[in-house]
Amino acid sequence: MGNKATIGIEDKNYEFDFVKGSEGEVAIDISSLRNKSNVITIDPGFKNTGSCKSAITFLDGEKGILRYRGYSIEELAENADFLEVAYLLIFGNLPNQEQLDQFLFDIKEVSIVDEDLKKILESFPKSAHPMGILSSLTSALVSFNPSVADIDSKEEMYSAIIKILAKVPIIVAWVYRKGKGLSLGYGDYSLGYVENITKMMFKRPNKEYIQNDIIVSAINKLLILHADHEQNCSTSTVRIVGSSHAGLFASVSAGISALWGRLHGGANQAVIEMLESIEKDGGDTKKFMAKAKDKSDPFRLMGFGHRVYKNFDPRAKIIKIEADKVLNELGIKDSILEIAKGLEKEALSDHYFIDRKLYPNVDFYSGIIYKALEIPNEMFTVMFALGRLPGWIAQWKEMREMKDPIGRPRQIYIGENHRSFVDLELR
Ligand code: CMC
Repeated sequence: MGNKATIGIEDKNYEFDFVKGSEGEVAIDISSLRNKSNVITIDPGFKNTGSCKSAITFLDGEKGILRYRGYSIEELAENADFLEVAYLLIFGNLPNQEQLDQFLFDIKEVSIVDEDLKKILESFPKSAHPMGILSSLTSALVSFNPSVADIDSKEEMYSAIIKILAKVPIIVAWVYRKGKGLSLGYGDYSLGYVENITKMMFKRPNKEYIQNDIIVSAINKLLILHADHEQNCSTSTVRIVGSSHAGLFASVSAGISALWGRLHGGANQAVIEMLESIEKDGGDTKKFMAKAKDKSDPFRLMGFGHRVYKNFDPRAKIIKIEADKVLNELGIKDSILEIAKGLEKEALSDHYFIDRKLYPNVDFYSGIIYKALEIPNEMFTVMFALGRLPGWIAQWKEMREMKDPIGRPRQIYIGENHRSFVDLELR
């Protein structure tokens, strides 16, 4: 490969620099193409477009590699605590004990939300989807924390980061508890980050709370596995909203909305609904495989396929093992897990799926664990959002620190050419 990339347009050649990543990825910097040639590139869905340089997450879709700041997802899921991973993603290195203690202490200091937020929560109808509530309440937090809307100093940046890490779990617990008709409270200052989230969600007003280590460990692992995934739909949303210098809470609220869709984080809810409907229908997986392959049928095998992974999703491998473990440890037999395994087996030997490189993704088995933990289907994507929070924060912070320009793609206009206005009575 030479030092420059050449693009020929009509009878002219234009030269562009290459951008090389630390893992050998190569891009052509075409940012000056339009100025030089009056031509733009077009790439719907950004299948071939890098939107930024980033030092946070590396993934190789062909080899099934996922690393946060250089550490493999397998090692982190096995050994780390979610708060350590959050620190790693946001600040670049694993914290030492002192840094971790300080981080947790700072978060605990601001682990409270304005009681008026409860009034907003109460005004949602019972039928409201938890993701809609989470996005709205995260956005509402901006009004209660106006100082976090404008981030110009390191101190303000840090303050916004710990506030959002402190307050979103409270909202998540409240959304869950509202759905169950339980009282809304606050966390336990003496507990770790994940232990505290688990208690805030599951404690009953009429019973002493006894921590279940299996549940805490499963949630910890799931949160780590969801913590970042480079420039996916919701993260790109967070970065692009933040690129207008909207604050962290507003940007994250937009990310939550993007995550909600069934093609993105909403797939975890869609997977369980699909597996339940297969079971209700008699458990004939072949029938649903045929539907997924039928181009005239809008049905897709939810939890299968990925824009980037074309071999396997390393997160799905870990979650599948974890699903078996959690169900065993909790003594739960779930026929849906067997249907999921059956579907996976069939898909992995089916030409349609092999040819298109469609494999189980992170969402295929995660819902089975959430279900075993008695988390309702509609809350699954909220749990994904809770895990993705540090990733969104890290990407937003990086975007601001790198002083990325405002996100503003161009388009190719395909509408009407100029025409004259016609008076109403003449149309
Ligand atoms: N079931 C059946 N066919 C599929 C599926 C599926 N789940 N996924 C992709 N295909 C087919 C698709 O019809 C197309 O076929 P053809 O080439 O004949 O037109 C081909 O595979 C390529 O699909 P695509 O939609 O062009 O691929 P994409 O990169 O734009 O979409 C995806 C990726 C994840 C949106 C898609 O695979 C999908 O809809 N999967 C189901 C939803 C899902 O599980 N989403 C969670 C993604 S992982 C969590 C996250 O990061 O958000």
